[in-house]
Amino acid sequence: MALQAIKYSRGSLDILDQLLLPHQSVYLPVPDVTTAWNAIKTMQVRGAPAIAIVAVLSLAVELHNNPPTTSVSEEIHQKLDYLVTSRPTAVNLADASNKLKALTASVKDEPAETVIKTFIEAAEQMLLQDVEDNKAIGYHGANWIQTAVSKTADIKVLTHCNTGSLATASYGTALGIIRSLHSSSALSHAYCTETRPYNQGSRLTAYELVHEKIPSTLITDSMAASLLSSQQISAIIVGADRVAANGDTANKIGTFQLAIIAKHFGVKFVVAAPTTSVDLNTKSGEGIKIEQRPGWEVLVVSGPTVVNNPGSKEEGGVVEVDVADVRSVKQAANGIGVFNPSFDVTPASLIDAIVTENGVVEKNADGVFPMHEAFK
Ligand code: MRU
Repeated sequence: MALQAIKYSRGSLDILDQLLLPHQSVYLPVPDVTTAWNAIKTMQVRGAPAIAIVAVLSLAVELHNNPPTTSVSEEIHQKLDYLVTSRPTAVNLADASNKLKALTASVKDEPAETVIKTFIEAAEQMLLQDVEDNKAIGYHGANWIQTAVSKTADIKVLTHCNTGSLATASYGTALGIIRSLHSSSALSHAYCTETRPYNQGSRLTAYELVHEKIPSTLITDSMAASLLSSQQISAIIVGADRVAANGDTANKIGTFQLAIIAKHFGVKFVVAAPTTSVDLNTKSGEGIKIEQRPGWEVLVVSGPTVVNNPGSKEEGGVVEVDVADVRSVKQAANGIGVFNPSFDVTPASLIDAIVTENGVVEKNADGVFPMHEAFK
């Protein structure tokens, strides 16, 4: 069974607390928008599509269980504006908010129940649509990579951060492509970076790859160049939090350096994202607001407590951990300053393909992505 980050039925929403994974699987109830805002801010739920879906479903749950009787459309607008302030870089939530505002404005003179029903049904549709979109991304991306590298087998890829079932409604974007390559027996190996400082790679992507029984290996972020120099990697596949109108792409911190490394080794660099991540109103990466996270995230490492550490497995020892006791341990020297941008922008010049549910966008003869034509 696929991992499920979001459990929803009308009037009820629960999310898997991603800060506790992979050691503990704890679902948190999300009965209202304030709980959703906090869960998004603290990254108990994260990943651009998942953030958008949890936000709008939290409002759907609130409206279903405590329906306002007057000024419903205005209340929906205010709550959506509040949810959008939770994290600034991913555009999917702002996109969902704009669509839902336009929809509810179009029925604002109808009875309150009609406005609420319209909102709830549209939010529920976004959950379903995301799964379909991810499967289409997986299909298009897998085909494009096989054609681009002229291989239908023995494909090795590297991915960054977490873009799988945990970051979306299900299946995933970049990880969806890996899933698709694996299911058609074209994939021989997937590598994932640990993705410091929050370790979405080692905690979440590694967990998903193991869960799906995809042959896979974890590397630290600093090992990418070494990996590409020693292994025949066909493509680096990443997700996106926002793709600007020229193809510049904001994604998890560390993505930019992977694109530079890919260019050095002549390896394909692929961005996979639903069209809800494309922001034609932002001309280039310079216009994308990059979230700065608190410094303590860099100062600490988190994990379960080691109960008994007699040495590595190779040395004959087995590390026992107390999975019920997940803590953060400070490892950095006291007094050091911290730089902690959560995302960076990869220039379009370093990207070979942008894969969405509608297909693959490549550069034209002028070396630019025809974004306005592709995403009218
Ligand atoms: O800070 P996060 O974990 O929300 O960042 C996630 C990423 O950068 C993902 O690559 C991106 O949101 C795409 S998820 C399908």
